[in-house]
Amino acid sequence: MSNETAKMSLGGKDYEFPVLKATTGPDVIDIRKLYAQTNNFTLDPGFTSTASCESNLTFIDGGEGVLLHGGYPIGQLAEHSSFMETSYLLLNGTLPSKNELKEFKTTITNHTMLHEQLAKFFSGFRRDAHPMAIMCGVVGALSAFYHDSTDINDPEHRRISSHRLIAKMPTIAAMAYKYSIGQPFVYPDNTLSYPGNFLRMTFGVPAEEYEVDPVIERAMDRIFILHADHEQNASTSTVRLAGSSGANPFACIAAGIACLWGPAHGGANEAALNMLREIGTVDRIPEYIARAKDKNDPFRLMGFGHRVYKNYDPRATVMQKTADEVLSKLGVTDPIFDVARELEQIALNDPYFVEKKLYPNVDFYSGIILSAIGFPTEMFTVLFALARTVGWVAQWNEMISDPGQKIGRPRQLYTGPAQRDYIPIDKR
Ligand code: SDX
Repeated sequence: MSNETAKMSLGGKDYEFPVLKATTGPDVIDIRKLYAQTNNFTLDPGFTSTASCESNLTFIDGGEGVLLHGGYPIGQLAEHSSFMETSYLLLNGTLPSKNELKEFKTTITNHTMLHEQLAKFFSGFRRDAHPMAIMCGVVGALSAFYHDSTDINDPEHRRISSHRLIAKMPTIAAMAYKYSIGQPFVYPDNTLSYPGNFLRMTFGVPAEEYEVDPVIERAMDRIFILHADHEQNASTSTVRLAGSSGANPFACIAAGIACLWGPAHGGANEAALNMLREIGTVDRIPEYIARAKDKNDPFRLMGFGHRVYKNYDPRATVMQKTADEVLSKLGVTDPIFDVARELEQIALNDPYFVEKKLYPNVDFYSGIILSAIGFPTEMFTVLFALARTVGWVAQWNEMISDPGQKIGRPRQLYTGPAQRDYIPIDKR
């Protein structure tokens, strides 16, 4: 709290609202009493100027292109940490000791299997169902199986359900992929790492041994780190809002998955690769740049622009470096990587993108790596949801544990008809 206040006058009256100080980044004007004092609401569609909560998990400086988890820069975590260690950091606020990390990994590993009846849910879907539709359905259905961890007011229940969600998302994601290609589900292998286990469940088959490629394993782990959490983005805000009603964590994460699916959000990685494939060759880039700038054309450069970053998304920088590494180590020469690099250079020098501060975001390069590893495009957002689950559960826990937590219930600017009497149909 600071002694500074924000003053305003309205209807001939003066009002003051407290200013709350941030550790870093913008301070906030606390307007929670504004309606009671002024009988006015504030209006902020898209929440461009609105802080929905106080949080100590993740900080983004959009102007400088900075992303911190627990104060640690994303570039350092991607370079030196692991997804399990970063998950521990998001859930506990500190980096783990060796023993704490070992214990956490063991806990997560021991929750990777699904209740056997859940496997039956998949056969209800068409084989060509989008895997995000399957994720929404199966993750939501977890509520029907794990009643012993749905009391949100019990910290132990919250801990177990958080671990179950982090542990089971790779299993469910791999099963969604296997179901789409008609291959049998591969059970988790507790001797493997979190990314290694996911790769084996996805690309392994019961008929033969599966060797985890350490290069791909490291790349997957780094991709998971880059997607782990991102402040109060649309899907995280969805999870918080769903959780504010007291809904169980499995239902809240299913709501987050549904929101992430949109092409303006997590669905952009799938849309970005489809866009790069549609462009196809470098000589067609100017046509698409022109379309992206055309007010009458709904086309946007997918993987470009960001509500918060008005500079390089630091995750895109790491993702591009990882794409370079993976493609060269796999000996893959993918022409759309050249299209992506050229598109990036052209866009970054085009006044339209420069003035609007549109830079590549986390979704611009991720699809190139995931495609090189062997994932079909429709699985890209599933992988985003897999990794973001730890951020969603960490943010959900932070909200539920806040003693001042209330149900989220925004108001509106009403511009519909004033009260009027009903007119019987024979008088209309
Ligand atoms: C993610 O919030 C998060 O943190 C999300 C995320 C996370 O980790 O959770 O980072 C993940 O969702 C990344 C974003 C992925 N989405 C895309 O790549 C889709 C393409 N990008 C755009 O749809 C857009 O940039 C958004 C949705 C990401 C951000 O939109 P904003 O902040 O609401 O900005 P805007 O739409 O108002 O755009 C500002 C201007 C507009 O022009 P004007 O109306 O001012 O003239 O920039 C233009 C837009 O038309 N613009 C683009 C553009 N993005 C914005 N023009 C062309 N191509 C684009 N990609």
